[in-house]
Amino acid sequence: MKLISLLLATLLLAGCYKEKPRPTIPPVPASLPEAPAGFDTLTNGFTDQKTMDAALTQFIEDAGDELGPYFNARSCVDCHSNPIIGGNSQVVEHRIAPDDKDDGIAQATLVHDQAVPGFNQQVAPRDAINALRSSLNLMGDGFVEAVPDEELEAIASVNGGQFIHVQILESPGVTKIGRFGWKDQQATLLSFAGDADFNEKGVENRLVLAQLPQKSNGIEDQQAGSTVGCSDPNCEDIDFYAAFMRSLKAPPRGLITDEVKYGESVFDSIGCNSCHVDTLYTKGLKPRDVQFHPYSDYLLHNIGTGDKIAQGPAPANKLRTKPLWGLRVQSRFLHDNNAFNITDAIKKHRHEANDSEFAYERLTKKDKQALLTFLNSL
Ligand code: HEC
Ligand code: HEC
Repeated sequence: MKLISLLLATLLLAGCYKEKPRPTIPPVPASLPEAPAGFDTLTNGFTDQKTMDAALTQFIEDAGDELGPYFNARSCVDCHSNPIIGGNSQVVEHRIAPDDKDDGIAQATLVHDQAVPGFNQQVAPRDAINALRSSLNLMGDGFVEAVPDEELEAIASVNGGQFIHVQILESPGVTKIGRFGWKDQQATLLSFAGDADFNEKGVENRLVLAQLPQKSNGIEDQQAGSTVGCSDPNCEDIDFYAAFMRSLKAPPRGLITDEVKYGESVFDSIGCNSCHVDTLYTKGLKPRDVQFHPYSDYLLHNIGTGDKIAQGPAPANKLRTKPLWGLRVQSRFLHDNNAFNITDAIKKHRHEANDSEFAYERLTKKDKQALLTFLNSL
């Protein structure tokens, strides 16, 4: 009897290992090399090291006189530094949802936490919904940027995730599937750099110019897509930020032990990988295409944690599947940093992730532990 159950368990285990359901169509081209990974700021090959170093200098530079009047921090690195420059941080930002579409203040979605003298801190308006969103890791984002739209569409057709087309700020009139930010609000790193330069530091640039009425409220709302009107030398900074981010390597894996491998088979068997997709690939990336392992589909899902704030075409209750690469260097989890350990974060999965979470609850203690060991290897 004991022998039979042992045999059965072994068979089951072997089954889990072999069958690795991957929702993407078409499959990853087998010949693609692995993307460079490492917790360092050595170039992934997108630029030469000298160019990356120069771009890094801009990424960590203080905004100086350009700062504000409303801002969240003085430089990009203030929120993107864990465990290397370009990583994440615990810093959260204050988002609000409009409570009255004719009200200039209530129409904004971002409230700035700091301002220069003479400008009032924004007070959260009336009945608006308030939410916090944490700073994201930028490592490997150059690979994410080069994932073809067809790949994301193919995953969506299998797992029911939602993709949205957003404007590419540097190519007015052109759209692409959004993949950056908690709401997939941007599709390219240059667009995000333009947005962040203005919204985090208050610095205007050639992609995002302040519109006076909104700026006097100290809240986010910019006229995107404009390529005129910025003659200041700082207008170029966003190109450096984008070059730096595109040169960053992917977060490296920790030790891959037998327990880690088994833990991943548990992860797959309870359907976590239907959204946290292990492997994606690039198309048209310089110097060469790669495959990489972000454990995300970059699509929007409602797993019951939504912050009730719609942003552009992204619905109020959906969030982008959080990429799990680099998970082991984080200390807080979920978009609002309100899960203080990984198990907590898993237990908050509902709605679209209901079956998966339910299957998690039914796992044996040993399998839960193996799953955790796997997650801590990411
Ligand atoms: C005050 C903290 C803060 C500062 C300063 C900051 N960021 Fe961020 N960053 C965030 C937060 C928070 C998010 C998630 C925003 C969201 O989706 O609502 C984010 C997201 C991003 C993303 C999307 C990453 C992804 O994988 O989806 C990029 C790119 C980015 N920031 C670039 C920059 C650049 C470039 C600068 C400097 C101009 C900068 N950030 C300055 C907090 C900050
Ligand atoms: C239907 C899609 C979906 C499924 C299935 C799913 N997740 Fe998630 N996961 C998400 C989304 C979306 C988020 C971001 C939610 C948020 O931040 O509020 C997330 C966040 C997480 C986080 C937090 C990461 C961080 O850095 O904050 C962990 C850990 C996680 N998922 C693990 C799992 C595990 C383990 C399973 C299987 C039991 C699973 N997920 C199944 C969509 C999914």
